[in-house]
Amino acid sequence: MKIALIGTGFIGTTLGSSLADAGHEVVYGSRHPGESAPGGGTVASIGEVLADPDVVILALPGAAVAELTAAHGDALAGKLVIDATNRMGAEVANARASLPPTVRYARAFNTLGGENMADPVFGGERADMFFSAPSGDREAVETVIAGVGLRPIYVGEDEEAIIDALFQLWIALAMRQGRGRRLALRLLEG
Ligand SMILES: NC(=O)c1ccc[n+]([C@@H]2O[C@H](COP(=O)([O-])OP(=O)(O)OC[C@H]3O[C@@H](n4cnc5c(N)ncnc54)[C@H](OP(=O)(O)O)[C@@H]3O)[C@@H](O)[C@H]2O)c1
Repeated sequence: MKIALIGTGFIGTTLGSSLADAGHEVVYGSRHPGESAPGGGTVASIGEVLADPDVVILALPGAAVAELTAAHGDALAGKLVIDATNRMGAEVANARASLPPTVRYARAFNTLGGENMADPVFGGERADMFFSAPSGDREAVETVIAGVGLRPIYVGEDEEAIIDALFQLWIALAMRQGRGRRLALRLLEG
């Protein structure tokens, strides 16, 4: 798949490195095109990378998504967009309301500290990544999540509020309860 990552920071390059290793074509969109991304990879302008990707992953501050839409709303319209952003402390953590309403909106990669996505195996078991997405895009998002080395668990369509509750659970356990950032969730089924 051709994957456009918006943001070349911790989460952008963590996801991008794993996805490139998994054989995907990864391009980074940045306000500083031409710079090299940590870990390698092509860094182009945001406009360029939004031209024809199969999927867009948002790995920039949640508060910056409105600005992204103001500048690139036409290019985002109709695309499969995985929102990995979190607005810490805000009533709604996700950035869906700042995106064009026509995006095929998926919510994933926001529920774990980035180091767990860089190294998703705990005692031989892959951590789970719970996600929501339009049902027609479920398989594509599963492919992206599996490309990062996580086990995808589909929660449904338009279920970002459930995914955001898992983000809040992670913050409560890892940070407020002091269990530490090396913490992930796993679904057990009988
Ligand atoms: N850190 C975590 O463990 C973690 C886990 C899950 C989700 N998240 C979420 O993932 C997102 C990225 O976090 P991060 O830790 O990767 O942050 P980061 O290392 O600070 O990277 C942020 C990236 O966003 C870019 N950016 C900032 N403002 C922008 C704008 N207006 N337009 C385009 N690009 C812009 C920055 O590029 P410039 O060089 O242009 O500033 C940088 O590449 C955040 O929403 C965060 O809440 C973080």
